[in-house]
Amino acid sequence: MIKYVTTPIYYVNDIPHIGHAYTTILCDMFKRYQVLKGKECLLLTGTDEHGQKIESSAKARNKTPKEYVDETSFKFQNLWNKFDIAYDYFVRTTNEAHDMGVKRAFEEMYKNGDIYKGHYEGNYCISCETFFTKRQLVDGIFCPDCGKETNSIKEESYFFRLSRYEKKLLDWYKANPDVIMPLNKKSEIINFIEGGLSDLSITRSGFKWGISLPPFIDDSKHIMYVWLDALLSYITPLGYGNDIPNKIYLFNNATHFVGKDILRFHAIYWPAFLMSLNLPLPKQIYVHGWWTIDGVKMSKSIGNVVNPDDIANTYGLEVMRYFLIREVPFGQDGDFSHKALVDRANADLSDTLGNLVNRLLGMSEKYFDLNIESENFDYLKDEINEVSTIIKSLESYMTNMTPHKYLEELWKIFDIANASIAKYEPWAMMKAGKKDEVQSLLVFISNILSKGALLFYPILPHAAREIMKCLKVDFSYFGKLIEDDGLLNKFSLTKIPPLFPKLEIKTSNVIEKKSDIKEEIDISQFNKIDIRVGRVVEADILKDSSKLLVLRIDFGENVGIRQIVSGIAKHYSPDELKDMLVCAIINLKPVKLMGILSEGMILSAEDSSGILRLISANDIEAGSVVR
Ligand code: ME8
Ligand code: MG
Repeated sequence: MIKYVTTPIYYVNDIPHIGHAYTTILCDMFKRYQVLKGKECLLLTGTDEHGQKIESSAKARNKTPKEYVDETSFKFQNLWNKFDIAYDYFVRTTNEAHDMGVKRAFEEMYKNGDIYKGHYEGNYCISCETFFTKRQLVDGIFCPDCGKETNSIKEESYFFRLSRYEKKLLDWYKANPDVIMPLNKKSEIINFIEGGLSDLSITRSGFKWGISLPPFIDDSKHIMYVWLDALLSYITPLGYGNDIPNKIYLFNNATHFVGKDILRFHAIYWPAFLMSLNLPLPKQIYVHGWWTIDGVKMSKSIGNVVNPDDIANTYGLEVMRYFLIREVPFGQDGDFSHKALVDRANADLSDTLGNLVNRLLGMSEKYFDLNIESENFDYLKDEINEVSTIIKSLESYMTNMTPHKYLEELWKIFDIANASIAKYEPWAMMKAGKKDEVQSLLVFISNILSKGALLFYPILPHAAREIMKCLKVDFSYFGKLIEDDGLLNKFSLTKIPPLFPKLEIKTSNVIEKKSDIKEEIDISQFNKIDIRVGRVVEADILKDSSKLLVLRIDFGENVGIRQIVSGIAKHYSPDELKDMLVCAIINLKPVKLMGILSEGMILSAEDSSGILRLISANDIEAGSVVR
């Protein structure tokens, strides 16, 4: 059965931070692991774009909500594209089809007798977009989740009969004890349900930025509560209640990844909504902890965020993926630090893995011209057994969602490979004429790297592909090397650039690093610039100027000879320039420099030490157009 995995549908009240990248990378890992094992898996991500919080974020920036959400949603999508996240669906809750689906769900729940009109009296946290009863608040006013001050509201509202689902939810958890993982998170939810469920207010009034109620209700005072809207975005892209091709069957095998901040919405409200709609319930809800900075949860509302794009640019995307998954046990909180990241990457990725590849390539090239072959691995029997045992244990770490443990164990096979080099000293064996034994060792190491690359592909897809290229293996070897625990007897290696060079900590420029790239232009703007090759006919120093030269340049038949004044006197002598072929813009508005007419501009580049060179067009005929 095809799997369907979802990230949370992120709020667009600010740009993505490392917490969002973490959940998204976990989902990407999950999908790639399924695909590696020959299963089909579709990945949904997207943006949650309604609600009071977003309406005010837009206002604070002097934008309309629509302008603002378009801008921020693209930032999320662009980042996932840049990070090569293998998503299949990107839902936006402002899409027409989603809007249709949400109205339809509301209508369906209403018809099923699960919605009624009443009055809400209690407190609301705009930052969490959550309702609280007085009893739940801290000191009678503060949000128990984020600590911010809540607003007390009293408004007419539609309610969902959540209380009706108390028993059904408890029965469901009893029948499906592993739905929530890690398991300790489940008991919190069970306790919460056992404490009694009040009906849930599912509409808001007093602001406008949300989905309106379906026409049959004829009530324009209210809009949908943002969480009802957002949760339904897991099914509207599959065609629920709209005209997108119907793939709702995918929801029969759905896995949600969420942070612990939003577990209650996924483990109580969402299954209750689905029950009301007579739809299948999620198979799995994986809950992870928070990334903190100095022990404080990182969040857009607080403003203490680490930008994942900066981290990836500074240290490498795969280093970041590895760190996020390896460093902190799934489900627990972890503190993000540059030092921890660099230490982890240097130890595991540079010293253990990168170095092993280098040593294999070095010895194979030196001793065997990169072609190695062996049938007999007798003296390596113990190592081979150890590697087999480790690899067999790995699957359970992935199915129990303990990917840090999966990597920890997997890395032991590279330790075994490195240790076998130290133990058997292939250089000494070569001296002793034991060429076959050395080949056995190198073939054994090549097998370890082949198996390892296949197995870490879900976490490090790029490095896996590089190593597979080096060893000339591909995904079709998964059956032989992993499932059948087999060994290849022969490798013809290809050299690859070193993987995972050693890193240094770069804290200070990470957050503020600004690019000096100019504003984007389109090709039509570029096409307005007329650049041609010209031959310098004459060059003279401009009187009274230490910087300027006057050049007469021949731009071929169509343009003829032009006079251009250029500030290159310190870098070129007139003699040097004569007959040189240069590039110049010839449709720049003519100007007078120190009283002399200049009809264009020569192209040059200055390097970091201040040396300026003309862009030369050697061997190109004068008059040619530069495009
Ligand atoms: O809650 N550490 O969106 P959101 C780890 N729109 N993960 C973190 C994190 C942190 N410090 N901060 C955020 C919403 N995350 C709703 C979801 S779903 C139908 C609607 C991750 O932008 C984590 O996955 O606030 C968390 O659950 C999610 O981002 C919240 O994202
Ligand atoms: Mg949040």
